[in-house]
Amino acid sequence: MSTPKRYTLTAALPYTNGPVHIGHLSGVYIPADIYARYLRQKGKDVLFVCGSDEHGVPITLRAKKEGVTPQQVVDKYHAIIKKSFKDFGISFDNYSRTSAKIHHETASEFFKELYENGKFIEETSAQLYDAQANQFLADRFVIGTCPKCGYEESYGDQCEKCGTIHNATDLINPKSAITGNVPSLKETKHWYLPLNEYETWLREWIVEGHKNDWKTNVLGQVKSWLDDGLRPRAVTRDLDWGIPVPVKGAENKVLYVWFDAPIGYISATKEWAAQTGNDWQPYWKDKETKLVHFIGKDNIVFHCIIFPAMLKAKGDFILPENVPANEFLNLEGHKISTSKNWAVWLHEYLEDFPEKQDVLRYALTANAPETKDNDFTWKDFQARNNNELVAIFGNFINRVVVLTNKYYDGNVPTPSEFSEIDQETLAMIKKYPSIISKSIERYRFREASQKLLDLARLGNKYLADEEPWKQIKENPERVQTIMFVALQIAAALATLCEPFLPFTATKLNGILNIDNGLSTAKNTWNEISEKNILLPSNHKINKATLLFAKIEDKEVQYQIDKLIATKTANDQANKTVAPQKDTIAFEDFTKLDMRVGTILEAQKVPKTKKLLQLKVDVGIDVRTIISGIAESFSEEQVVGQRVTVLVNLAPRTLRGVESQGMILMTDTPDGKLAFVEPDSNLVQNGEQIS
Ligand code: MF3
Ligand code: ZN
Repeated sequence: MSTPKRYTLTAALPYTNGPVHIGHLSGVYIPADIYARYLRQKGKDVLFVCGSDEHGVPITLRAKKEGVTPQQVVDKYHAIIKKSFKDFGISFDNYSRTSAKIHHETASEFFKELYENGKFIEETSAQLYDAQANQFLADRFVIGTCPKCGYEESYGDQCEKCGTIHNATDLINPKSAITGNVPSLKETKHWYLPLNEYETWLREWIVEGHKNDWKTNVLGQVKSWLDDGLRPRAVTRDLDWGIPVPVKGAENKVLYVWFDAPIGYISATKEWAAQTGNDWQPYWKDKETKLVHFIGKDNIVFHCIIFPAMLKAKGDFILPENVPANEFLNLEGHKISTSKNWAVWLHEYLEDFPEKQDVLRYALTANAPETKDNDFTWKDFQARNNNELVAIFGNFINRVVVLTNKYYDGNVPTPSEFSEIDQETLAMIKKYPSIISKSIERYRFREASQKLLDLARLGNKYLADEEPWKQIKENPERVQTIMFVALQIAAALATLCEPFLPFTATKLNGILNIDNGLSTAKNTWNEISEKNILLPSNHKINKATLLFAKIEDKEVQYQIDKLIATKTANDQANKTVAPQKDTIAFEDFTKLDMRVGTILEAQKVPKTKKLLQLKVDVGIDVRTIISGIAESFSEEQVVGQRVTVLVNLAPRTLRGVESQGMILMTDTPDGKLAFVEPDSNLVQNGEQIS
């Protein structure tokens, strides 16, 4: 697309089944906000929308758990989430919610139009049903084994492990999430979007059309789904929480949450337009609008396949120009989990670190999971603050401001002749807007944040090389020039840091006295490249105040201790011992032939995550055994391992290889496997267990 006329930026609507945590912020809302603020700085027409995703099973489940109504759940978390975003400076033009009337109307009309234009397949089929709960089991109401990757806790609509979307009936060994019962089947009617009909078009549009500008992690996922083949997908559900299906014969049915939620972007735009007296349509219908969806990786399929197919079916809407999805952020080595309380909640962070929003914004940006999953640690957070924000950015500004006040009573001095270094430095400043822009426009926000820091580094180096404090006595005229140049860097930083560190930008503008409405000295992003003087001589700046403060060891230790306490509590709660099985006769036991053995060789079974093919010496012979232990052990780790083998188990063929026995395993509390082995090396292979 040539220069867009305007931008519509969306950030994934968070589920209102809990507060938001650092994972949300780092993957979605900070990158989106940096991008939005940057574009506004460039004077672009930007609309940045989001809102609460208030339908769907997660809300219903949370309501059940808390013993309140779904409406109470969404009201509570909508307020908390909205406040967190505001507190962290996420600059939405509108933060809406999907329970809003305008959204119900918009989503309803959207469905109706597709329905009337024959875009759906209407089909009655047998679906999973929990007779005890009197409830059809779709989405998160049902848990079972993922047919694609074998993960045993996949949801009915999507596997959290491999991201695959499926229909609930595809699950192997499904169980109701409400009662734990094995579901029965019951006939019911639904409306399906025939995704298969959009396959060729999707391939052309994304795989061909965007192969050079979309992120490889996004393209990879899209390609793999298209290669697997798309199937019709139900967009209605038998639930009582959601947007009623607006056609006859659909009593007690609602729209699938993933059908209604992305339409929330459109409703949020309409709501904004109504509030501000704008026209919403160009933001969704004008071909010269650039639409960008900011999301986490678990949302890729919905934003790259399903929602585009819906928009295409509708016809008059634009499609996303890019979907820069991020990978996941872990916390101290473990997956962030709302239900396990393994998270840093934004509202709690602010209680412990008031006024330090920018520190978290910066630490999360500098360590963003842009190309792979990343780990947030409190030590890294502390280091980012102390070694980068305090020691580089804050230190530079402080030195410039303190010296300007000391030497010139806060007035920007008049320079005399510029040395070569001065000229180079002034020329470098002009390059920074485009250096940072380049990274931002490619959605490389961590790189961009480091370029910003480089400008502060440049300032520190300049002062360290020129040493104004040493020259002030003998050569005051030279020092005027030095301080003038240094002040230009400070002014550039005030503008360029704003997308990343908006609170700091406000403070810095205050210190430099360039945001008081009276000054002519405030510079836009482009002006940093264009103007020769960013802060003119005789402009008076204010006294220094600290931009960043050192974070002490004990402050982060407190946070680490809090997590350790959470972990201990979780481990304690999970320590359930399985109940004893039914009694068996002694003869039954003697039928089991168990032997001590040693693993001699191991190799991964291709295209599986879990399986190792082993050669095991069981005394009787050396045999092949396929064992599902690859997620706990590498090939090298198990060679030489002593094991216990059930040798007379009927052979089974797995992936074309016959497995002649079973290795006995047990579990560790953190979900890894452990071998059952004799406690003496003297026990020989082939010895019986009795
Ligand atoms: N609520 C979803 C989640 O948290 C995201 C919805 S994004 C939207 O994963 F496109 F549907 F709005
Ligand atoms: Zn899976």
